[in-house]
Amino acid sequence: MRLILLGPPGAGKGTQAHLMVEHLRIPQLSTGDMLRAAVAAGTETGLRAKAIMDAGKLVSDDVVNAIVSERIDQEDCANGFILDGYPRTLAQADAVEGMLQDKGQQLDAVVELRVDDEAIVERIAGRYTCTTCGAGYHDTLNKPEQEGICDKCGGSEFKRRPDDNAESVRTRLMVYYKETSPLIGYYHAKSLLKPVDGMLGIEEVSGQINQVLDTLES
Ligand code: AP5
Repeated sequence: MRLILLGPPGAGKGTQAHLMVEHLRIPQLSTGDMLRAAVAAGTETGLRAKAIMDAGKLVSDDVVNAIVSERIDQEDCANGFILDGYPRTLAQADAVEGMLQDKGQQLDAVVELRVDDEAIVERIAGRYTCTTCGAGYHDTLNKPEQEGICDKCGGSEFKRRPDDNAESVRTRLMVYYKETSPLIGYYHAKSLLKPVDGMLGIEEVSGQINQVLDTLES
């Protein structure tokens, strides 16, 4: 199955993608994670992307298209993948369509997480992840069962993202409405859009997504 998770920053795309990976056994392809890995590795792409990401702006279409094109050619994507945070512009949407056409493949659905701006700011402000396995948590909305210990791997070190500050979040939201939200109409017109109420709790949102996936599988 080839899926896109669409939604504003902090909507819960990464959280739901992790749950979908367990359910569907296909990889999550997060362009944000891939770019952060490039920054951490100090590659040329990473060095160029860092300031753009910290400011909450979009890395160029050419760079992210190339990253995704290379990634979906890998063997673990043969049975499908979940694109998380990509495409984010109409040019990226055209690019992924072209990549899939070249392989004789197509998208199955675009799951749109609908979340209010106030909830986004709250979710991003309290977000942190396990340094070891990347599992995501929140200071109040999604705490580990035992404080300071990751539920998934038992790790005890956590980190926060440098772009999770008020100024960057404001920019990211503006960029989302200007550059990314037109994709909602684009995928609606292609009958691929599956809106989900992202304001619900994590388990409820996951339940709604599973219902969508069931309709695709049947
Ligand atoms: P990226 O890493 O993709 O960031 P984002 O889109 O801003 O999305 P987030 O990762 O912030 O949020 P999320 O929706 O995954 O929410 P999460 O599950 O963590 O991109 C970062 C940067 O990289 C961009 O700004 C850009 O510079 C660059 N970039 C990336 N892709 C690009 C592209 N295609 N083109 C150009 N540039 C690109 O949840 C947030 C918090 O809420 C967590 O704490 C979680 O525990 C909690 N939570 C989740 N769901 C719920 C719920 N239902 N109820 C309560 N709490 C919840």
